Amino acid sequence: MSHADDDNGLPPLPSGEGNARALGDGVIRGANVVPSPPAPPQAGEGSPYSATLPDDTATQALGARLARVLEPGLSIWLSGDLGAGKTTLTRGLLRELGYGGRVKSPTYTLVELYPFSSFNLYHFDLYRFVDQDEWEDAGFREYFNDTSLCLVEWPEKGGALLPGPDVRVDLDILDTGRIAHVQGLTEAGKKCIARLFIP
Ligand SMILES: Nc1ncnc2c1ncn2[C@@H]1O[C@H](COP(=O)(O)OP(=O)(O)O)[C@@H](O)[C@H]1O
Ligand SMILES: [Mg+2]
Repeated sequence: MSHADDDNGLPPLPSGEGNARALGDGVIRGANVVPSPPAPPQAGEGSPYSATLPDDTATQALGARLARVLEPGLSIWLSGDLGAGKTTLTRGLLRELGYGGRVKSPTYTLVELYPFSSFNLYHFDLYRFVDQDEWEDAGFREYFNDTSLCLVEWPEKGGALLPGPDVRVDLDILDTGRIAHVQGLTEAGKKCIARLFIP
């Protein structure tokens, strides 16, 4: 299943933007966000945004698209099995923000800081998080503030220590490719995700 217009209960993809090429099948390919007729019926705040991602490049393209709408102060939860594409999406987001270095999951260090001129981006991977005391000792709590954007892989492992998300991204593995569901959960998060629907 790789077509967004399959009967999968999901809203169609939004119209493309900028350099998007109309391929007509509602699939994000590379840097192109492809319009899928008919026009999206639910573009209001709080609507989940869904996209079929045939390959790694498409996952990065969704990350880049998120980079254009997210703001400092938000916490983004990235959920999905091992290999679902959480780090790949983060990589695309960071590239779009201008970071040219290596991006890998901070599985052992738990968090990686990417400083930008006006905000810090913290990329958490809590897969191996077990020591609750480490949360306070390492000062993780302070990382969630108005001037930081936090992306969290394996948020389930953070338990009650982790502040709730403004935006949640769920990545599901398909036979080939992935499907992503993006939802704003707070007012600020909903406002950002609503912008994903704007052509
Ligand atoms: N949409 C996609 N279709 C197929 N493979 C993908 C897609 N997105 C990412 N991948 C691949 O899946 C693998 C695991 O990705 P990764 O981002 O490390 O997953 P996670 O962080 O969720 O464990 C990588 O080899 C990546 O290239
Ligand atoms: Mg990862």
